[in-house]
Amino acid sequence: MDVTLTVNGVEHRRDVEPRMLLVHFLRDELGLTGTHWGCDTSNCGTCVVLIDGEPVKSCTTLAAMTVGHEVRTVEGLEQDGQLDPVQQGFMEEHGLQCGFCTPGMMLTARALLDGNPDPSTAEIREAISGQLCRCTGYATIVRSIRWAAEHGGGGNGATPAAQSEAQEQEVGS
Ligand code: FES
Ligand code: FES
Repeated sequence: MDVTLTVNGVEHRRDVEPRMLLVHFLRDELGLTGTHWGCDTSNCGTCVVLIDGEPVKSCTTLAAMTVGHEVRTVEGLEQDGQLDPVQQGFMEEHGLQCGFCTPGMMLTARALLDGNPDPSTAEIREAISGQLCRCTGYATIVRSIRWAAEHGGGGNGATPAAQSEAQEQEVGS
């Protein structure tokens, strides 16, 4: 079947089997291998992407189900060459080791901060409770997300540069 998916703001049209999962569409059709494929049973969360801003497990979502929706992958976090504060936070606070869980963790964090710019530790732990990390441990992941919250990471993924630009425009208007 013919599907057109909007991924990271770009439309992609492909002829795929109706049963194709979103994770395979992203990785195999578009080459966006930042979305990882782990358990394939909706348990580990490494395949999480954002659909219309909400975290969704792409291993249990058909590609065809996302037609007409906005898909955002980890490749879409960086804007204009600038890391999203969530990405920066994972660097600053050492929120990863092997990195396998990291794309899903980051996108879930992005969605959390978009809705709650100043989450508590408990709120962060609840938000990432659908995701497993088998090497870093959760303390540094939570600290990474707090770092992002404390460094302009809240509110629709605006980078600090974009936020200060918006503030300048507000001041100038
Ligand atoms: S691969 Fe999707 S939840 Fe594990
Ligand atoms: S960093 Fe290795 S699974 Fe999380």
